[in-house]
Amino acid sequence: MVRFSLWCILAATCTAATSTPPLPQTIGILALPKFVGLDAYGPIELLNLAAFSSNLSLSIIGQTLDLVSSSVGNTSGLIPSYTFDQDPKIDVLIIPGGPASRLAINNPEVIAYVKRTYPKLQYIMSICTGAQVLARAGVLDGKRATTNKFSWKEMVASGPTVNWVAHARWVIDNNIWTSSGVTAGMDMIHHFITTALRNGTLADRAANILEYEVHRDPSFDPFADIWGATDAPAVM
Ligand SMILES: *[C@@H]1O[C@H](CO)[C@@H](O)[C@H](O)[C@H]1NC(C)=O
Ligand SMILES: *[C@@H]1O[C@H](CO)[C@@H](O)[C@H](O)[C@H]1NC(C)=O
Ligand SMILES: *[C@@H]1O[C@H](CO)[C@@H](O)[C@H](O)[C@H]1NC(C)=O
Repeated sequence: MVRFSLWCILAATCTAATSTPPLPQTIGILALPKFVGLDAYGPIELLNLAAFSSNLSLSIIGQTLDLVSSSVGNTSGLIPSYTFDQDPKIDVLIIPGGPASRLAINNPEVIAYVKRTYPKLQYIMSICTGAQVLARAGVLDGKRATTNKFSWKEMVASGPTVNWVAHARWVIDNNIWTSSGVTAGMDMIHHFITTALRNGTLADRAANILEYEVHRDPSFDPFADIWGATDAPAVM
């Protein structure tokens, strides 16, 4: 990981720096019109609970500061705290999917924001079809990733340079974390709190408060078979 090796050069002791990366502290959620609510709100609930016992701040980042409606229109939405142009300093960027990602891949401002922000991040993550935004921004070129199994064929077609992994609840390739359909994002974030924030007790406490049963195995995926998804290697 580029960021950690840079860190290593600057740090007094390289061994300590590489073995213990800094804890991520600032998390940005990309607000894209017509996002699937649960893609965003599931992770937000977990991270908000985690923030009670860790130094974590969450912000919503949008093209403008106007309310961004979810895929169910006026029933819910996200209010951005920053615009792309304001370029807030964040350690992690999370990209929810849904109809939002289909619109976003044709929105040059979104793609440019993801492209220029990725090199500055500790982690980038997608939920559901949010992976196609990463693919369009070139972040997934030659990388392993997963996405929603119901939309598999469409996603594979829109990201031909990606090594798509079919049987996966989530996939980690270096600092790129991609999760499968909607609810899988919560399992990925539970894993993030456990490993990147290094507090499994906190992750479990948050899940127990939400009364949500966690899937801890990244290869757990009955939905790949239900929707007939198979691995799709990158065509470079
Ligand atoms: C907590 O995070 C903020 C950034 O959000 C940072 O400025 C501050 O130094 C952090 N505090 C500690 C104790 O790490
Ligand atoms: C949301 O509410 C506004 C104002 O009432 C209305 O014009 C618009 O059609 C509504 N949008 C949806 C998706 O329901
Ligand atoms: C981990 O989370 C638990 C539960 O919230 C908290 O009591 C504990 O202080 C946290 N540990 C660290 C090292 O922050």
